[in-house]
Amino acid sequence: MKYLNFKNGDKLPAIGLGTWKSDKGEVGNAVITAIKNGYRHIDCAAVYGNEAEIGEALSEVLKEGTIKREDLWITSKLWNNAHKSEDVIPALKQTLKDLQLDYLDLYLIHWPVAFKPDVANPENDEDFLSLEEAPIIETWKKMLEAKKEGLTKHVGVSNFSATKLKDLISKTEDGPEVNQVELHPYLQQNSLLEFCSKNGIHLTAYSPLGSGDRTDAMKAADEPSLLENKVIQKIAKKHGASPAQVIINWETLRGTAVIPKSTNEGRIIENLESTGVKLDEEDLKQIADLDEHFRYVTGEFFVTKGNTYNDIYDEK
Ligand code: A2P
Repeated sequence: MKYLNFKNGDKLPAIGLGTWKSDKGEVGNAVITAIKNGYRHIDCAAVYGNEAEIGEALSEVLKEGTIKREDLWITSKLWNNAHKSEDVIPALKQTLKDLQLDYLDLYLIHWPVAFKPDVANPENDEDFLSLEEAPIIETWKKMLEAKKEGLTKHVGVSNFSATKLKDLISKTEDGPEVNQVELHPYLQQNSLLEFCSKNGIHLTAYSPLGSGDRTDAMKAADEPSLLENKVIQKIAKKHGASPAQVIINWETLRGTAVIPKSTNEGRIIENLESTGVKLDEEDLKQIADLDEHFRYVTGEFFVTKGNTYNDIYDEK
């Protein structure tokens, strides 16, 4: 297993279990199965609505005693309706309560977008807070305070473009340690990866397999299937591996962390076993050629007429 190294010596296991879209009634089992099969990194978020069940699962695993809390890396994320200074730490404490933990390893600002505190999902412009009402730097200062208080060991962001990162870094001495973004062969994020590595920010790849289990409302009618891509399938066949294993292995070779979601035991194991695939120069060249700057998760659901959030990405 590869690790991403932090300044204080902490190590983030490159492959983690994603839990977005993992249903209640399944996610707890998935977490237990993953940990029993060698995963040490679990990626969560308050808005996934399943942290309480994950908390039960973590508590069960830790009670058994073989795995200790410090062996695990648990990430969670601040939802968009808790960006106001006074709401950040209470939101983090709720997540800790749900996950039955004393601290997180990593807490991320989920999106560079703020909603009013009582809005879970915005329906019109009035549901948003403007960047003046909820400046990211003020939210960030609270994230740093949470780290200082020991509620989380590391802090970062998610869905931040290089422009948004630059802006945040220019306003603080202590910038994000991680940026979690959509990243896969159709959206390789080369310039963001370069920007982040120059600035000491780790990247984590979400939707690494193309998130085929999103609801229809979140899918474009003609979107391509990553796992059915002919080039990926050919490379997989050549190595006696699955398409998912090829993609996950490619992600870790580029120095990012990657969080494939699965609730299926066989696929949870298969995804971790991607470390055994040995991609060669020709494979890497062919995968590099697949970059189409194609996003599965567009963030368009945050853009209502007239609000200020139509500039989330640097590249469309
Ligand atoms: P399942 O949970 O039934 O295994 P992403 O991580 O990009 O969000 O993709 C998650 C989707 O990919 C889910 O539908 C998940 O289904 C599926 N998936 C996860 N691992 C594999 C795999 N090894 N092979 C095929 N599909 C996979």
